Amino acid sequence: MSFRAGRAISLAFVGALLCALLACSRFGHRDVRAIVEGPYPKKLSEWRLFTAVSPALRPNRGVLPYDLNTPLFSDYASKYRFVWMPAGAAARYRGEGVFEFPVGTILAKSFAFPADGRPGERLIETRLLVHTKGGWVGLPYVWDDQQKDATLQMVPDPVTVRWTEASGRRHDFTYSIPNANECHECHDRERVMLPIGPRAANLNKTFLYPDGAANQLERWRAAGYLEGLPENAAERPRSARWDDPASGTLDQRARAYLENNCAHCHQPGGQAGYTGVDFRASQKDLARLGVCKTPNSAGNVAGLLYDLAPGRPDASILIYRVTSVAPKIAMPQLGRAVVHREGVELLRQWIASLPGAGCRAPSAPAAAVPGS
Ligand code: HEC
Ligand code: HEC
Repeated sequence: MSFRAGRAISLAFVGALLCALLACSRFGHRDVRAIVEGPYPKKLSEWRLFTAVSPALRPNRGVLPYDLNTPLFSDYASKYRFVWMPAGAAARYRGEGVFEFPVGTILAKSFAFPADGRPGERLIETRLLVHTKGGWVGLPYVWDDQQKDATLQMVPDPVTVRWTEASGRRHDFTYSIPNANECHECHDRERVMLPIGPRAANLNKTFLYPDGAANQLERWRAAGYLEGLPENAAERPRSARWDDPASGTLDQRARAYLENNCAHCHQPGGQAGYTGVDFRASQKDLARLGVCKTPNSAGNVAGLLYDLAPGRPDASILIYRVTSVAPKIAMPQLGRAVVHREGVELLRQWIASLPGAGCRAPSAPAAAVPGS
């Protein structure tokens, strides 16, 4: 740590010297800006996270790209995630739950779709989570059509997204950018806003950096961004990749999918904590996953009785809701306009594989479905 800090200081010194020689002061220095209280910049460029936008977001000095073993599905968008921390500050490692980040941390996630009929991608939005003096703040920036810069919009308009896959499959839908209040629906625990993705198990993977492949946790530590990483790699948890059978069993992959697509709301202290359904991968109690559980919520469930009927995907409310895009039925109820076909297929296979002699008929509601 002291070596790294020393090196950072000497680099800063050399930087300052160069700056003096090149008269940088006239323009101000170009490093990322740590802004820890409002008002927040109207333009994304003012944070100086990126030095170029096209053909890809090019991170500024100290801005590290990262990826997750199992991400959240968002209408087939490509996502680009970056982390930055002020000099000398590091996140505290935790085996479970999100890391503890220092004040000044910026987490950035950009969403892009293939450009219709043109090569490359079209950036739609960049979301920032900034650890300010008063806690985490969520800021939605919306990209302009020219792809020059993004503007802070607390209540962004929906965007029409269209493109055709090489296979001929056509995508045409209305993509909703969450407004600044909606960030809380997924990011709040007990009404306190927190990051979701940067947990040891989900970050523990190889990433292809410009200078070669490396384990992300180790790269974060080498960059001075992580303290307390267990020396023994075997002690670091690793989440399955939902779409890679080599990374885990069907059960592990389905549970990783539920954890990263559902558990931010479905856990105690989350927005859907009151339903009693807890989709965290650490939850071992099948009943808490919704097995043979009748819903608390009185939504439209098409006459189905149980959140999860073991062995019977089509009798499971869970499958009914992930295959819907209708308001009040679709799960997740925010941030998804199209069905994630491959994700649904994984959940179907998983439910079909769950053993069970069926669920005992619930005492209420009275109308039982034969064979349930
Ligand atoms: C539908 C739920 C949902 C909503 C709404 C949502 N997020 Fe997130 N967000 C997630 C999940 C889940 C992750 C982690 C998984 C991933 O990145 O794929 C995440 C990740 C992020 C990240 C990367 C750091 C992290 O926490 O993992 C940022 C930055 C972020 N969100 C900002 C925002 C902002 C700003 C808003 C509001 C404009 C917002 N999010 C709204 C679910 C949501
Ligand atoms: C943005 C928050 C949020 C996310 C993300 C989310 N849910 Fe929900 N979920 C809710 C809320 C709120 C309810 C209760 C109201 C209702 O039933 O619509 C609910 C209810 C449910 C129920 C009925 C539970 C019961 O016993 O009452 C099921 C099943 C369900 N969700 C499945 C899922 C699945 C599967 C995912 C992920 C693919 C998911 N949800 C993601 C908020 C969320």
